[in-house]
Amino acid sequence: MASQALIAYCRTYQKVMKLATDVLPWKEPAITKGPGSIKKLPYLIKQKGIKNVLIVTDKGLMSLNLLDSLFEGLKEKGINYAVFDGVQPNPTIQNIEDARNLYIENNCEAIIAFGGGSPMDCAKAAGARVVKPNQSVPQMKGVLKVRKKLMPFFAVPTTAGTGSETTIAAVVSNPDTHEKYAINDLCLRPGYAILDPELTVGLPPHITSTTGMDALTHAVEAYIGGSNTKDTAARALQATKLIFDNIYTAYSDGKNIEARQNMLLASHYAGIAFTRAYVGYVHAIGHNLGGLYGVPHGLAMSILLPHVLEFYGEAAYDRLADLADAVGIAGANNAEKAQAFISAIKELNARMNIPTSVDKIKEEDIPLIAKRALQEGNPLYPVPKIMDQGECEAFIRTLMPRETAAAGPVPAPEKKEIKEEVKEEIKEAVEEVKEKAEEIKEEIKEKAEEIKEDFSDALEGVKDEFKDA
Ligand SMILES: NC(=O)c1ccc[n+]([C@@H]2O[C@H](COP(=O)([O-])OP(=O)(O)OC[C@H]3O[C@@H](n4cnc5c(N)ncnc54)[C@H](O)[C@@H]3O)[C@@H](O)[C@H]2O)c1
Ligand SMILES: [Fe+2]
Repeated sequence: MASQALIAYCRTYQKVMKLATDVLPWKEPAITKGPGSIKKLPYLIKQKGIKNVLIVTDKGLMSLNLLDSLFEGLKEKGINYAVFDGVQPNPTIQNIEDARNLYIENNCEAIIAFGGGSPMDCAKAAGARVVKPNQSVPQMKGVLKVRKKLMPFFAVPTTAGTGSETTIAAVVSNPDTHEKYAINDLCLRPGYAILDPELTVGLPPHITSTTGMDALTHAVEAYIGGSNTKDTAARALQATKLIFDNIYTAYSDGKNIEARQNMLLASHYAGIAFTRAYVGYVHAIGHNLGGLYGVPHGLAMSILLPHVLEFYGEAAYDRLADLADAVGIAGANNAEKAQAFISAIKELNARMNIPTSVDKIKEEDIPLIAKRALQEGNPLYPVPKIMDQGECEAFIRTLMPRETAAAGPVPAPEKKEIKEEVKEEIKEAVEEVKEKAEEIKEEIKEKAEEIKEDFSDALEGVKDEFKDA
């Protein structure tokens, strides 16, 4: 079990973060949804008086001609566009810089992010680099480091999935260090999202299933964490039900528009939930399997989700029982319902041919994966049960295929008599959290000033328009 000092530090930090995020201005993107809704995007852009846009996408989507109707619509409306289609899965810093350069070279005034999480995140980070030319991508890592309004930003998800079209995150990979990390800032939340199910009908079954399980992971991790609001909890429950009801149909009958639309909505709701209520160790560990071995994000999530829920054990039973209720899974008590819910996730994975282990994990990498995962997860993620380094390493070993797994789990670290030591560590942790709280207070003050300025600019604009009229 993690030490009392570690637990106290994480929980205090999470409380402070929750208080801070409760006062931040959360604004959801305006949604346009329904089959064929992509055709409305050029009109929306034209209405805003935008003449030059950058489209960020990937080569796979270009080769499927998925953007053709968008290109036609933009031409019809006389809007110029430049296309950056070099986004790799797990977008890199170089991808971001290339997209940014194209934006500047073409005097663009807005961005259309078209694709799965990879193009959307690359576009968000490129937008941040345009408005913050002197801040590098690594310097944006973490929470509220960008703090500058982006250009008009239109997100078109083609996987259902990451929910990136409504989140404040851009997940970035550094191929030199094999690190994968998130930039989190309110300004990265897109202003507009187009949820068109027709764009997702060609998504192959394996990507449909794994990206869909990513969305389920967002909903579940947000719901069982300690930073829910009434709204995020409701969205997470709604998303979980939609995914349980539609994922297998979308996987086995890709052309089913209703299932595709429901999956897009589920992914969007799960995005709304987790961007405010956070994720948990499924993401913290999964990001590092992506960074080190290139395991696709959705696949990592699908495999890890049931394992991590089992690690949480009793600490997550009550919340998991709510989710079981939402999807109609019965049980005599909360423990039974929670276990049945985890079994249902395993069954879904099995029906969709998702493996149960990660064959790329190497024994010698485990300490580094665990260290980086806990740097991401602790103290930020309000998980039901805190993991320490030893537990995390032992946990990662359980993800290896049986035949390659080491002789057995690492024994838990010895318990020491540490009462005085613990008191001292808690004192230090509280000091650290106080400092962080001061920092956050300053950041919120700055943000409030920015909003005030934006508001008075807008007011002046309206006054001018009245004068002109
Ligand atoms: N920003 C966030 O809030 C957030 C949340 C979760 C994950 N992520 C990140 O998003 C990335 C993963 O995104 P993803 O899972 O959507 O996958 P992706 O964007 O990497 O796409 C995966 C593959 O699917 C193909 N594809 C996408 N849409 C298609 C379609 N409609 N038809 C056919 N092929 C299609 C792409 O060409 C690509 O080859 C990871 O880097 C992950 O860390 C971000
Ligand atoms: Fe995710």
